Amino acid sequence: MKGLYIHIPFCNSICSYCDFPKMVSGEKVKSEYIDHLFAEIDSYKDDLYDIDSVFIGGGTPNSLSLALLERLFDKISDILKKSKENTIELNPELVSKELLELCIKYNINRYSMGVESFKEESIKLLNRHHNLAMIQEKITLMRSLGINNVNIDLIFGIPGTDINDVKYDLNMAFSLNPDHISYYSLILEDKTIFMHMLKNHNLDLLDDDLVADMYDYINEEMKKHGYIHYEVSNYHKGKPSIHNLKYWNLDEYIGVGLGASGDLNGYRYTNHKNMKDYLVSPVDTKEKMTTLDRKKEYLIMGLRLIDGVSVSKYRNIFKSDIFDDFDLKKYLKLEILRQKDDRIYIVENKMFISNVVLEDII
Ligand SMILES: C[S@@+](CC[C@H](N)C(=O)[O-])C[C@H]1O[C@@H](n2cnc3c(N)ncnc32)[C@H](O)[C@@H]1O
Ligand code: SF4
Repeated sequence: MKGLYIHIPFCNSICSYCDFPKMVSGEKVKSEYIDHLFAEIDSYKDDLYDIDSVFIGGGTPNSLSLALLERLFDKISDILKKSKENTIELNPELVSKELLELCIKYNINRYSMGVESFKEESIKLLNRHHNLAMIQEKITLMRSLGINNVNIDLIFGIPGTDINDVKYDLNMAFSLNPDHISYYSLILEDKTIFMHMLKNHNLDLLDDDLVADMYDYINEEMKKHGYIHYEVSNYHKGKPSIHNLKYWNLDEYIGVGLGASGDLNGYRYTNHKNMKDYLVSPVDTKEKMTTLDRKKEYLIMGLRLIDGVSVSKYRNIFKSDIFDDFDLKKYLKLEILRQKDDRIYIVENKMFISNVVLEDII
């Protein structure tokens, strides 16, 4: 079964840290975009028969008017009816009862809200526009409508914070009892407001050791509060994300929209990030994946998961031994990697440096 990702690249304002394809636009641009998105969806019509997860992400999908959102849902309504998990990303300040009722009508059954922090100073620095009371109100509204799969996104390592701030954010998050929490470490991206501030000496980044301590603290507290850590930055209480697991398990997915990517019929493609180019023709690059590419991906994506990769599955897929193809022994000796029965995984408190380890291995 495949996943379908739909990118909505519009936001009402731009956050200090974000480098996702996004822009602030009026209704005319949004409507024209939706027309092109429909044409792109139609171009995949022969591959859309076995979708079991849909992810409508952004940007901010709920910055579309209800009328445009309904056009989109209507376009893919047959897929939404049959698919198991249908997620929409939401910015809290734009969540209304009417919006949620529309989503429910079209079988959207997973709701992912960007919260990032509950601390006023952090929210301001991130250039976001919510507060604790608003988040509480929106989650209560969701629950009152029978929504039972809610994720919140949080960010740690925000400049000006310490462990006590992480503690505060975690306690607030636990009090809301979301079904899933994505807790990302702040990544300083090029061409963002934060990068501009850093270059002008207006931003003091946190020390790496403090950020690593924050990660360990988050992992401990999540466990104490009944959340299962299943991927570097993801925790669930019985409902892991079916769609995101597809990326980590190397399942096929179709991506449509500005800057989206897909993995389909042995090809990896990425769409244009520039709107003008996207409107002319969506796909920017498309490459056939070699066996070596696939092997590397198996390792890179699989080792993001807490229970790691399967040695026997690797052998079945590639007809070769994972230990012959990659020098894993060094990291097993260093106790950064561990092997238990059929599985090789990164030790939880080393997950934080998994990028460095993986770069070296591949
Ligand atoms: C790109 S946003 C889209 C959803 C929605 N617009 C929102 O802001 O919640 C998805 C999530 O990515 C995460 N994110 C984006 N840029 C990030 C960065 N530079 N570092 C860490 N997390 C980031 C944030 O947690 C954010 O909620
Ligand atoms: S984090 Fe979300 S709301 Fe903020 S700019 Fe990025 S996509 Fe838009």
